[in-house]
Amino acid sequence: MMETVKVDQKPRVIVLGGCGFIGRNLVEYLLDKELVSYIRVVDKVPPQTAWLNEHHQKIFEHPLLEFRSANLINSVSCKSAFASDQPINIVFNCAGETKYGQTDPVYKEGIHKLSINCAQETAKLHADRYVEISSGHLSSSDKIPHKEDDSVDPWTFIAKYKIQVEHDLSNIPGLKYTILRPAVVYGPGDRNSLAPRLVVGAVYKHIGEMMKLLWGPDLRMNTVHVRDVVRAMWHVTSRSDTIGQTYNLVDESNSTQGSISAIISELFNINHDYWGTALSTLAKADMTTVVEEVNDKHMSPWADACNKDGVENSPLSPYIDKELLYNKHLYLQPGKLSSTTDFTYLYPKLIKESLKEVVDDYVAMKIFPHSLVL
Ligand SMILES: NC(=O)c1ccc[n+]([C@@H]2O[C@H](COP(=O)([O-])OP(=O)(O)OC[C@H]3O[C@@H](n4cnc5c(N)ncnc54)[C@H](O)[C@@H]3O)[C@@H](O)[C@H]2O)c1
Repeated sequence: MMETVKVDQKPRVIVLGGCGFIGRNLVEYLLDKELVSYIRVVDKVPPQTAWLNEHHQKIFEHPLLEFRSANLINSVSCKSAFASDQPINIVFNCAGETKYGQTDPVYKEGIHKLSINCAQETAKLHADRYVEISSGHLSSSDKIPHKEDDSVDPWTFIAKYKIQVEHDLSNIPGLKYTILRPAVVYGPGDRNSLAPRLVVGAVYKHIGEMMKLLWGPDLRMNTVHVRDVVRAMWHVTSRSDTIGQTYNLVDESNSTQGSISAIISELFNINHDYWGTALSTLAKADMTTVVEEVNDKHMSPWADACNKDGVENSPLSPYIDKELLYNKHLYLQPGKLSSTTDFTYLYPKLIKESLKEVVDDYVAMKIFPHSLVL
């Protein structure tokens, strides 16, 4: 009698940069919801040194998960990260250089070369989909929200190379890709997005002073929760009409520096204000000096607060790079993803409870001074 072979319908996927902030939340989502039959996490940083919280550590021990170490900038290393005897159905790219303050060639390699290497390997595997996370920093205007089809004027190094990636993906034969452009992503595991602003809030709580910020409350800093980002990444793979499309990922808060700072102030029970025109005018002329001074003011109280509460080692810092402190807006038009693909956001508004969850997670990991949290 012929044996029947049980065909597993759930896709086999690769998550590139799966140890990072968005990557680990995607891995958690795919495994918790039992959406995949195999998941390969590829990263240059091993899970053991990636500052995973307890839940994510457990997730990374899941029997369906395989970790492969690779430097995806290197084409040989990239090729071996993709090597597979069995089909791979979906590749999610959450890898890329995300540190601010690097030189142009670092971004060229760490973003453009990396993404193109990975997209080419995906095409060779004949995967059903390649999902690329791009950038929302493609227009600095505060007048009109940026739509997916509007002309672009990238204002960070990262965005400059992400837009080149977006363009070049369309030239890779056979690649079925979807591009997502998130606003500022927040949620558990964040270290570089809203995290430095949370740390700055804690610093002002520690020193008992009013939190002072550059520019004004109207500076647009649109936001999106990481759990909605990863849901959207999965969602687009379920529909063929998303192939070759680009979507903004942004909640309905229309967050600004003012609305975010109000929530952070409430969270730490502090007051906030703006440096006003004098320093902001000086910043226009000599941004480097102003940013150094502002960052210097925060560094030693942060170290002091950590020390006082026995936080010996923390990947968190109040340092905000110059690139993110210019008077430039992140203002995205929501709607295309929801109206054309029926996607709904679970976190339509940025609320205090969501940022409290992030801070409580840091405290549980002993990387944030517990006495500064209410
Ligand atoms: N966090 C945000 O607010 C935000 C907003 C818009 C776009 N994005 C984009 O989303 C992607 C993921 O962002 P994130 O916040 O999770 O960043 P992250 O820095 O937390 O994660 C990136 C991961 O990629 C890995 N990586 C980097 N270079 C690599 C290489 N050469 N080889 C192998 N692995 C490498 C890192 O080790 C890290 O684990 C990035 O492309 C980022 O630009 C993030």
